[in-house]
Amino acid sequence: MKKLLITGATGLIGRRIVELCLEEGISVNYLTTDKSKIITNSNNQGFYWKPSTGDIDKLCFEGVSVIINLAGSAIAKRWTEANKKEIVQSRTASIELLYNSIKDNNLLIDHFISASAIGYYPFSETNFYDEDYKTEEKSFIIDVVKQWEEASDKFQELNIPVSKIRIGLVLSEKGGALQQMVKPINSFVGSCLGSGSQWQSWIHIDDIARMFLFILQNKLHGIFNGVAPNPVTQKVLIYKIAKTLHKPIILPNVPEIIIQLILGKMYVIVTRGQRVSSKKIENLGFEYHFYLLQSALQDLL
Ligand SMILES: NC(=O)c1ccc[n+]([C@@H]2O[C@H](COP(=O)([O-])OP(=O)(O)OC[C@H]3O[C@@H](n4cnc5c(N)ncnc54)[C@H](OP(=O)(O)O)[C@@H]3O)[C@@H](O)[C@H]2O)c1
Repeated sequence: MKKLLITGATGLIGRRIVELCLEEGISVNYLTTDKSKIITNSNNQGFYWKPSTGDIDKLCFEGVSVIINLAGSAIAKRWTEANKKEIVQSRTASIELLYNSIKDNNLLIDHFISASAIGYYPFSETNFYDEDYKTEEKSFIIDVVKQWEEASDKFQELNIPVSKIRIGLVLSEKGGALQQMVKPINSFVGSCLGSGSQWQSWIHIDDIARMFLFILQNKLHGIFNGVAPNPVTQKVLIYKIAKTLHKPIILPNVPEIIIQLILGKMYVIVTRGQRVSSKKIENLGFEYHFYLLQSALQDLL
């Protein structure tokens, strides 16, 4: 492989992937919508783009043979009509801009690897989803993921193989969902949101970053679930975080109706979940560093 181009590289997952690449001697170019985040090193160089207006610094493609696409505006914000449009378009417009740039300039790219989300799978307490599952259900989140994946699939028209990683709940010491759960638990006001029986298909930040590189280095194409082998219910997750922090859970579960009042329609992303299988990537030889929640939490907290 020559060079890697990463979008969304300044985010939670992107930062870890860049670190791993640099450790492995892989040079990285990255695209950012924020000019203040551009740095220039010989093996790690930032370039500006603005997908909503079609602006892109085409020098970003120089020497690049593989693209990792992580760009997308945060889903965990109030689902107003404007925010919903932003959530979808930040993903589809980014991919379209990459696609058009590659097509118009006849660039040779060997592999397009994109983030996707387990939000593709309908909420369920009983199903155990693998990558072959085809969803018929309709919801805002399912719609977002479908449009995101369809946009990625277009690269196949240019004979560029595509991989889509349906990422689960990423646990990190540097932000994201885990830190949102840790704060109230540390202040003795932590509790489950809703029933507590919703599945949480989690993955340690190091493992999701390593999975992107594994897929890249082994030239694996198709859909892969980006989750750890042992999903847990939210109740287990909250109580294990509390145990790791040596804090008690005193309060009862927060009723769903209260969460709905506070968060509006996006309350479903904290009160519902899916149980998602990691068998496909494991069978292809991917070895997790964190199989069990307890070891992941011990490492991160
Ligand atoms: N973390 C999770 O638990 C999780 C779970 C499932 C799926 N995912 C998906 O995986 C991807 C990476 O996740 P993450 O946690 O690293 O996300 P993140 O920390 O929010 O970072 C996403 C990055 O996307 C870029 N971005 C934001 N708005 C944009 C826009 N309008 N146009 C183009 N780029 C934009 C930003 O980079 P610049 O400021 O440099 O432009 C930002 O750093 C996201 O698409 C996310 O939805 C994450």
